[in-house]
Amino acid sequence: MGILEVKKGMSNREIEDYANYVISQMSLEEKVKQMIGNGINIKVLFDGGFGKRVYDAVGSEKYNIPSFKFTDGPRGVIIPGSTCFPVSMARGASWDIVLEERIGDVIGKEVRAHGGNLFGGVCINNLRHPSWGRAQETYGEDTFLLGEFGAALTRGVQKHNVMATAKHFCANSIEKSRFKVNVKMDERTLREVYLPHFKRCVDEGCATIMSAYNKLRGKYCGHNDYLLRDILKGEWNFKGFVHSDWMHGVKDTVGGITGGLDVEMPRAKYYKYKKIGTALQEGKISESMIDETVKRVIRTILRYTTKEDPQIYEVNLIGCKEHHKVALEAAEKSMVLLKNEKETLPLNKNKITKLGIFGRLARIRNTGDHGSSGVKTKKSITPLKGIKKFLGDSIEVLYNDGRDKKSVKALAKEVDAAIVIVGLTYKDEGEYIIELRTGGDRENLSLHNDHIELIELVASENQNCIVVLIGGSAITMEEWKDQVPSILMAWYSGVEGGKALAKIIFGDVNPSGKLPFTIPKDPNDLPFFDTSVNEIEYGYYHGYTLFDKKGLEPAFPFGFGLSYTKFEFHNISVNVKDEKVIATVDVKNTGSVPGDEVVQLYIGFNDSEIERPAKLLKGFSRVHLQPNEVKNVEIEVPIKNIAWYNPESKSWEIEKMIYNLYIGPSSREGDLLSTQFNLN
Ligand code: BGC
Repeated sequence: MGILEVKKGMSNREIEDYANYVISQMSLEEKVKQMIGNGINIKVLFDGGFGKRVYDAVGSEKYNIPSFKFTDGPRGVIIPGSTCFPVSMARGASWDIVLEERIGDVIGKEVRAHGGNLFGGVCINNLRHPSWGRAQETYGEDTFLLGEFGAALTRGVQKHNVMATAKHFCANSIEKSRFKVNVKMDERTLREVYLPHFKRCVDEGCATIMSAYNKLRGKYCGHNDYLLRDILKGEWNFKGFVHSDWMHGVKDTVGGITGGLDVEMPRAKYYKYKKIGTALQEGKISESMIDETVKRVIRTILRYTTKEDPQIYEVNLIGCKEHHKVALEAAEKSMVLLKNEKETLPLNKNKITKLGIFGRLARIRNTGDHGSSGVKTKKSITPLKGIKKFLGDSIEVLYNDGRDKKSVKALAKEVDAAIVIVGLTYKDEGEYIIELRTGGDRENLSLHNDHIELIELVASENQNCIVVLIGGSAITMEEWKDQVPSILMAWYSGVEGGKALAKIIFGDVNPSGKLPFTIPKDPNDLPFFDTSVNEIEYGYYHGYTLFDKKGLEPAFPFGFGLSYTKFEFHNISVNVKDEKVIATVDVKNTGSVPGDEVVQLYIGFNDSEIERPAKLLKGFSRVHLQPNEVKNVEIEVPIKNIAWYNPESKSWEIEKMIYNLYIGPSSREGDLLSTQFNLN
């Protein structure tokens, strides 16, 4: 190919020149091959084939363009043997983006060791309603939190020359109707609530975007030129490519191509040479649209595959000890202590001789969804195994699966403390795949009746009753929460989950997770959610902004989580300088054990003349404090981050007014110190 060749260390200019040259040489048929997955049969997906290997798409030997090799996540690489992390929602509860980047780093290495170069697992859909079946795959209900976590995972993964995919673009948060539901929303809701986290990932350099199955304002997201062409590729100047979601992500040739969908995955159904040729002949699409797509694909793939690798990726990296250690740390940092009366937790090893563990979920490997995010691992440590191993012979551990009420009562009476492990499995929530008979949205946010009965039974016999909840989003607890002294949200906690749980229960690790969503007392306080409707309106408010707006008290607020120590917040201050709001606060550990606190910063808009939420999360910082230690924590908020989108001027605007600034350990009003700053 003369002086134009593919080689390591190519500059962006050289890549552009090469792409232009190749496009000028390619036939239409050759170009179309750069727009499709390499032909996996959907049946194979559901025939045990899915997730066993990386999937090839695009690429050309003739022109020296590598294919992209897709694998999925987000709780690790889905190919067997990989490290299974706690689900994204759990990681969102860690509020630790440094850790999330390290998780991305591990995932990036494992993708490469499996032979992949594209990770489809940066899932950042907004949790509008906790019933969403795939809630566990995302990081929470808040745009800012989602953006920071998506960006951190992207950074980590892409370090290893793996293209990250942010998905599902956008407004994808109902499972059962995902292939057809039309999501309506006004412009401010779209711009301020459902898009900023995607923009954050694009700004971080995220290589690719996966379009969502659902419709937005009447158009399938994969055909949605407003989303893909005007906003993503136009306003945001996204240079990578967009690939479709897998089952029904493209509905017709012209719709996809004019909409700005670059690659049809996982195989050509509508992006077939003949169909594209006909559309061209009929003038329904243009050659320049095809060329633009091919250029995006070639450019992105070459950028990643010609960069020098920071290391060699051998197969023994997959699921190695070092990687499991990161999974353990994630599990430890993500569990949320929701209630702890009379300091029931941590249990003191020296004071108990008999421990009762109750519930079927205590001894099953329960790492989450069995759909496209399912990481197949046989190694995961169950709660029962984790606790038994942790205690060795020091304490007698007695297990009861909870089915026989009589024996439950007897055991609960006999033991010094009782741990009841209840919650959900992949049968209750997850990606809805009819063929696999798995997943779907939750119809009910409370626990199953038999789980509630088990809690009540154990609690009636034992005052030291600790409820451990497993699940991927909010579980309502009003029926039973006053009957037990301690509640710990343990999530689907990955391969090392049982070990992390034991360490928290016995105080080797101080819990530090904070809820990335609001738990309501009454599900009726949440936005309308219905999996049977063909059309739904997504409003401007959900989660804590909705509770603030309606003045409702949740069961547990967004950002809430207890610790085995106590923290105090003092001396809030704020300064506006260099286009930034810089806030500081002193945080003191006033208890007797070391611990981590998540310092949260919210901006309030009391003076606004337009409709705005009472407050919005705009910064956070996780700090470690020894007993009696005080740290002055500084959090910066770029002023551009407090703008609102004016649909009339079609631009982001900063209101000139006095703003409220709140800092504290949760979003609850009573937990927050407050001050003001002036942008007049
Ligand atoms: C899911 C995507 C996933 C894809 C391929 C789809 O059904 O919606 O999240 O990346 O399958 O695994």
